[in-house]
Amino acid sequence: MNALILSGGKGTRLRPLTYTTAKQLVPVGNKPILGYVLGHIHDAGIRDVGIIISPETGSEIKGYIGDGKKWNIRVTYILQSEPAGLAHAVKTARSFLENDDFIMYLGDNLLSHGVKDAIREFKNQSPDALIFLKEVDNPAQFGVARLDKKGNILELIEKPKRPPSNLALVGVYIFTAKIHEAIDKIKPSSRGELEITDAIQKLIDTGCKVKSGLLDGWWLDTGKKDDILQANTVVLDEYIKRQIKGRVDSKSRIIGRVTVEKGATVTNSIIRGPVIIGQNSSIRDSFIGPFTSVGEDVTVIDSSIEHSVILNKAYLSGVERLEDSILGRSARVVKNHDKHKALRLMIGDDSAIEV
Ligand code: DAU
Repeated sequence: MNALILSGGKGTRLRPLTYTTAKQLVPVGNKPILGYVLGHIHDAGIRDVGIIISPETGSEIKGYIGDGKKWNIRVTYILQSEPAGLAHAVKTARSFLENDDFIMYLGDNLLSHGVKDAIREFKNQSPDALIFLKEVDNPAQFGVARLDKKGNILELIEKPKRPPSNLALVGVYIFTAKIHEAIDKIKPSSRGELEITDAIQKLIDTGCKVKSGLLDGWWLDTGKKDDILQANTVVLDEYIKRQIKGRVDSKSRIIGRVTVEKGATVTNSIIRGPVIIGQNSSIRDSFIGPFTSVGEDVTVIDSSIEHSVILNKAYLSGVERLEDSILGRSARVVKNHDKHKALRLMIGDDSAIEV
């Protein structure tokens, strides 16, 4: 079985961050989302991986994955000239996929349990396609399934205005080569995309065996700011261990599960986990509260941060309370006078804010 990872698209919902970064490379717990996806593919024993890239962010994705050796996978880059839909991406990858079964994994989706069990289920059931469903609070933002009483799929609808259920389609699909015939039969949707949801519906309509599984564990689609913050919370909660590789002075207190990476320094500060402080960052006279990821080469002086993602080389000074925020690379936030007010920011790379 091959894998096809979708790392194209425009990432408009994560602007301004995605003006300068591919959305699949936004870090949570100091690791790009795509890094978790590739880890899951490797853990499932898959070695041949096609990566869909776009002309805008393709070189950045290539820069991160390289030849795939880090994950022990063989990588083929497939350029999709425009983000014309998930089914269009499969069409673009046709010669890479040949007639083999394949797992398609959306590069901005995060799953707690990986995809090993999903592949096992596919092999046990031998359907024409296997999809995964998860209950969500906001089904209108996803592909949604309508099931009969026995749990068979009756209908799949992409981003319905009036969702027939709260069961969303997860961004992991396992297909046989039958999906290619189905894709050839569909037309672009009202938003102008060739929808994979419509192609799966076509499989159902033509009598193919489409099975669905309910997913164990958490699943996050990291499309928007709050999703990134939630993903960061879940990942830190699950993976962060207490590991102090950097320097912490005697006036500082490290409470709970905190990772301080090599070359980082913590001076006269309190860090309350789960928190990760990246390599060569410097925290002085500050408080870093739970569920915060501080990237590499970040400087934090006389500030308090909680529940936030701070990307590499950002600089914060005198910020009394920053929470629920994402700061892009090399962003600067400097507060000059007292106002006792929390800041909630989503600022792109190289932004500078003085308040
Ligand atoms: O996350 C699950 C949802 O993903 C499903 O519930 C929906 O049925 C499915 O259509 C999809 O919806 P999104 O609106 O979240 O898809 P998005 O445009 O964010 O694209 C998902 C990934 O695929 C993302 O990493 C970008 C990439 N992509 C997207 C398009 C449209 C491509 O590589 N090429 C494309 O043409």
